Amino acid sequence: MKINNLKILSIDTSCDETSVAVTEGKTILSNTIWSQASLHAEWGGVVPSLAKREHEERIDWVIERALKTAFPKEKTNYQSLITNHVTAIAVTVGPGLAIALEVGIKKAKEISNKFNLPFIAVNHIEGHLLSPLAQPKDSKLNTPTTNHGSLVTDISFPALGIVTSGGHTEVVFIKNIGDYKIIAQTADDALGESLDKAARVLGFGYPGGEMLEKIAKEGDPNTYKLPIPMVGREKELCFSYSGIKTALVRQINGIKANKYELSKVNVSNLAASYQNVCFIHFIRVLDYILKENNYPVKNILAGGGVMSNVTLRKMIRKTASKYNIKVLFPYSKKLYTDNAAMIGVAAYYKFERKEVLEPKDLYRVDRIPRAKVDKSFPWE
Ligand code: KG4
Ligand code: ZN
Repeated sequence: MKINNLKILSIDTSCDETSVAVTEGKTILSNTIWSQASLHAEWGGVVPSLAKREHEERIDWVIERALKTAFPKEKTNYQSLITNHVTAIAVTVGPGLAIALEVGIKKAKEISNKFNLPFIAVNHIEGHLLSPLAQPKDSKLNTPTTNHGSLVTDISFPALGIVTSGGHTEVVFIKNIGDYKIIAQTADDALGESLDKAARVLGFGYPGGEMLEKIAKEGDPNTYKLPIPMVGREKELCFSYSGIKTALVRQINGIKANKYELSKVNVSNLAASYQNVCFIHFIRVLDYILKENNYPVKNILAGGGVMSNVTLRKMIRKTASKYNIKVLFPYSKKLYTDNAAMIGVAAYYKFERKEVLEPKDLYRVDRIPRAKVDKSFPWE
C-alpha cells in the first residue's frame, strides 16, 4: 500500500464537539463538526452527561456526513465507503471528558473490528500541535502560509509548539513529530477557560472567547489596571490565569457600587483590558523561553481554539519575529477549535511510525482523561 493513498477516518468526542474527518496524509478530504455549544450554553459550561448523550445520538450521522463529503461522487452507503476507501481508524483517547471520550472510542473500536482496520489512538493535544500542518484538498492552496504571506515548505524540527484552548495552555518542545516535551503549562485555569469565565461575568454567554474578542475590539485595553500574573517570575515557566478573573470581578463590583449598572463602554473597556492582560502574560513567558534559547528552533506551530484570536496571533508573530522565528497557524478557522481532521494528521504520522493496534488488541485501549502529550499511552 502506498502511504500517499492512506486514508484515515478519525473521530474526536473529547469535549462538546462531535467531529469526524477523512484525511489522506496531511490533506483534509472532509472535516465534519457537530457543535453542542448551544446545548451547554444555558448551563454556562459543558455538562458531561449531556455531552455524552448528544455524542451518542449524533455520532453515526456525523460519520456518514464526513464520508459522503469526502467521496461526494459515490452514491453508496457508509459501510461501502469505509470498505472501499478507508485504510485505518483513528480516535482521540485523551485528554478530555471521560464519558465523552468513551463514545468516540467505542465507535472507533466497533468500526475497527467490523471492517478489520488498524486502530490509531491519538492524543488530543498532539492533534492541536500538528493542526498547522493540515493541508486543504485544493492543490493550489496546498501549502499552508505563515499568515504573512511566506510559504512554509521548509518547516524544520526541532520546533516549538503552542496550544491555547479551553482546557490547555502549553508550550511544547517538538524534538521531532511524536517526540514532545512540555516546557510550560498552566498552574490553574487554561487561557480559554479564563476568557470564558470573564465573558460569563460580563454577560456574553458560553463559550465566550470569540464574543470577548469582538467586544474587546471596541474597548481601550489601558482603561482598567488588572494585574499581569507572575511578573518577574517568567523563569518558572508557568501560566496562572485564575487571579485575573478575581481582579476583574473586583473591578466590576467597584463600578457597580458607584453606578449600579455597567455601561456598554465599561463592558468593552473591561473586555479589552482583561483580554490584553491575559495575552501579555502568555507573551511574557513565551518571550522568556525564546530569549533563553534553551530550545533553539526556527519554527513555531500554534493551534487551539484561542489561537483563532487575531490579537493573540499578532502578538505571537511579533514576539517570534524578534528572534527570527516563523510561526505557522492552521489554514482554516475550523482547524483551531476542536475537530477530527487534526486527529487524522497526527494519526498519519503515528501510522508512519507503525504506532497502530490490530483489532484483536483493542481490549487494551481505554480513555485517558488526563493524558499528557509527552507521555506515551500505557499500551504503546
Ligand atoms: O480548542 P478548543 O475548541 O477546545 C479545547 O480543546 O478546549 O478551544 C475552545 C476555547 C474556548 O475557551 C473558546 O472561548 C476559545 O477557545 N475561543 C476563543 C476564540 N474562539 C474560540 N478565544 C479567544 N478568541 C477567539 N476568537
Ligand atoms: Zn481541543
